[in-house]
Amino acid sequence: MKRVSSTVLGLATLAACASKTPPTETAAGALTGVEALEADNPVKPLPTLPLGISQTFEELSDPPKPETVRLGRWLFFDKRLSKDGTVACATCHRPENAFSETTPVSTGIGGQKGGRKAPSFTNQAWTIYPNFFWDGRADSLEAQAIGPMANPIEMGNSHDAVVATIQQTSYTKYFQQAFGSPEITIQKVAKAIADYERTRVSGNSIADKMADGDETVGNEQIKQGKALFFGKAECNQCHLGQNYTDSLFHNLGIGWDESKKAFKDEGRSAISKKPEDTGAFKTPGLRDVTKHAPYMHDGSIGTLKEVVQHYNKGGNKNPYLSPKIRPLNLTDAEVDAVVAFMQALDGEGYMDVSPTLFPQ
Ligand code: HEC
Ligand code: HEC
Repeated sequence: MKRVSSTVLGLATLAACASKTPPTETAAGALTGVEALEADNPVKPLPTLPLGISQTFEELSDPPKPETVRLGRWLFFDKRLSKDGTVACATCHRPENAFSETTPVSTGIGGQKGGRKAPSFTNQAWTIYPNFFWDGRADSLEAQAIGPMANPIEMGNSHDAVVATIQQTSYTKYFQQAFGSPEITIQKVAKAIADYERTRVSGNSIADKMADGDETVGNEQIKQGKALFFGKAECNQCHLGQNYTDSLFHNLGIGWDESKKAFKDEGRSAISKKPEDTGAFKTPGLRDVTKHAPYMHDGSIGTLKEVVQHYNKGGNKNPYLSPKIRPLNLTDAEVDAVVAFMQALDGEGYMDVSPTLFPQ
């Protein structure tokens, strides 16, 4: 049986919970007990969608509710969901890095390293196709969230153990509020976390404001970069729509080993079983891309400039290279302009910090 770590909780709060005393005000006027817990992570209305996001929560088949989002926020940041209590979703998906991170690959429980970079997931409430993970092996955010809890490298916990851990806490009350019944199932855990993710929306970027006709922001270099992105450089063959991704799979030659004539990671073909998908990975969205270098599924490219240079030379030649990838003949100034356009995609609205109190 897993024990609850109390490092996130003040002793006064623990005592109040244990003895079921009603919440009281301390001398300093701070809340304690359940009131402090709930005030630290209140039920909030769904966010107002920023400039640049034209879809709505209402149009989703099962829209998030404020109560599921609050529950999901706790669960997303709660390390007790992992086998040894050291890793939360937020360990690898950090708000300050647009819910990605700054290392080439992720480190899970026991310091184990995975083989892929943790992707950002802002604006994933709406995708052109429901493909999640770099290889598209999950078809919803719910299916996606269930994966890492049991992944031996990431969080290493069985689903029964996750449920058992949560059942021992006062989380039950919040499952009741969110779902109308107190039973805890892995599906409900996943739905709550997925709904929290759906509210991580990014927009209102300089590029969004420029597109909206705001002449007080932006500059000529960004305009030139945008024209190249949608023109000569044809980035929008794959990076399109409000989140700059087609959510499909393409081979840019990342991870190709010319001496072995093989990919380190075969990518999409392991799932689709189609040889032509070898070395193909999902197109990542580009909003807030400055926040989480290094880039690509293996974190092998350090800067945005180097990414554009990779495209400019026509990718890495290999037998499965996407026919859409070809030398672009961009000048150095044009490369810089494309980078400036991507920098103008930094938005706002998705940021968050971890709650400081968790149901005990
Ligand atoms: C140890 C680090 C780690 C932890 C912990 C972790 N992830 Fe991830 N996450 C990753 C990596 C690495 C990938 C990419 C893996 C792949 O594509 O095969 C990923 C992929 C994702 C994606 C897919 C995004 C996309 O664009 O397809 C989402 C969403 C996500 N994780 C959410 C979560 C949630 C929710 C949790 C907690 C239940 C979680 N992650 C826990 C590292 C982690
Ligand atoms: C053929 C489709 C395609 C085209 C065209 C394309 N990209 Fe990409 N882009 C991808 C895919 C797929 C990846 C991930 C590849 C991987 O990790 O193996 C990617 C990755 C990126 C990344 C890294 C993002 C991250 O989170 O790691 C950036 C930045 C980027 N592309 C910008 C551009 C720019 C700028 C252009 C135009 C010069 C462009 N792309 C053209 C498909 C494309």
